[in-house]
Amino acid sequence: MDPVTFDAAAIENIDDIMEIENLSFPSPWDRATFLATFSDERCSNIVARSSGRIVGYCLAIEMNAMVHLLNLAVHPDYRNSGIAGDMLDEMESFAKRKNKAYVFLEVRKSNKVARYLYENRGFYHLSTWHGYYTDTGEDADVMIRRIKEGG
Ligand SMILES: CC(C)(COP(=O)(O)OP(=O)(O)OC[C@H]1O[C@@H](n2cnc3c(N)ncnc32)[C@H](O)[C@@H]1OP(=O)(O)O)[C@@H](O)C(=O)NCCC(=O)NCCS
Repeated sequence: MDPVTFDAAAIENIDDIMEIENLSFPSPWDRATFLATFSDERCSNIVARSSGRIVGYCLAIEMNAMVHLLNLAVHPDYRNSGIAGDMLDEMESFAKRKNKAYVFLEVRKSNKVARYLYENRGFYHLSTWHGYYTDTGEDADVMIRRIKEGG
């Protein structure tokens, strides 16, 4: 695979992002939800590119002392090459630039790959939100990682 690069996402990337979203989630976000994050100045949206093609994205929003990871996906043809891990690093740099102390996220209990990815990168289980996912009633695990000492 060609080297992967990371840039800020732009509105013209929305079709590529939607394609990956629809391939990645049983209940994908709609276009309007993505577009709302593009116009929200608290958000940082990153895309990953290989040979010019968008192969993944990571969306986050700053909230008080934390950055909340809103969405993360990699095109199925490009998984298991470290792209999600690298996007988490990019997102952590964003959080540090904003002087945030923590990154947190929610993940479906059944999403073993994502849970493994987060645990491997220093996130730990904070709590469980029962029935959080309204499509299936599945629980969400809330995971958090401290990125600033003393925070
Ligand atoms: C979760 C997702 C973003 C990971 O993307 P990725 O680019 O393949 O991730 P990476 O290659 O950086 O890392 C994946 C890790 O999971 C591991 N992994 C892969 N398949 C696995 C499996 N079946 N069980 C356990 N671990 C697995 C890999 O070995 C790798 O571990 P490592 O960091 O020790 O090398 C991707 O699978 C995806 O888009 N899934 C659908 C959307 C989704 O679930 N998003 C997360 C929502 S919270």
